[in-house]
Amino acid sequence: MTVRAILRIGDPRLREIAEPVEFFDTSELHELIEDMFDTMEAADGAGLAATQIGEMKRIMIFGADENPRYPDAEEVPMTVLINPEFSVISDEVLGFWEGCLSVPGMRGYVERSARIRYRGFDQFGLLIEREAEGFHAIVFQHEYDHLDGILYPDRISDRTLFGYSEELEAGGAI
Ligand code: NI
Repeated sequence: MTVRAILRIGDPRLREIAEPVEFFDTSELHELIEDMFDTMEAADGAGLAATQIGEMKRIMIFGADENPRYPDAEEVPMTVLINPEFSVISDEVLGFWEGCLSVPGMRGYVERSARIRYRGFDQFGLLIEREAEGFHAIVFQHEYDHLDGILYPDRISDRTLFGYSEELEAGGAI
């Protein structure tokens, strides 16, 4: 049970490509995932990648019932996903004001695929396969990017749609 420090943008470790997990259901893996949940919950996040706490492994967690950071977002099942893969199943894109625990205090408008199919394994090595849309699809793709060293500001196509949450709120953008 440890709340770990979250790396912030500028830290070169956030730009590394994470390595696949080889062994499942180990005490080391269970401890890491517990730390990830403690860290995500302490920060009120909707998702966290292992790379954000300096562990270069292809592990993400995400989920949201009601998240104060994203009051309009729909519910997403609490998920552990290891060695994830995904494919896009529709040309439709969805724009969302994203935030990231590694880019604190800021939001940016990013468009991503609206419907995807993803697969991966849980911490016990059990296969998870799902179709996702809406906020669920967005969160997955955001966390997946972290595993390849990509942060959401890299995905903003209109640079004017990026800034501090307080200013964006005051200006009525979010
Ligand atoms: Ni993030």
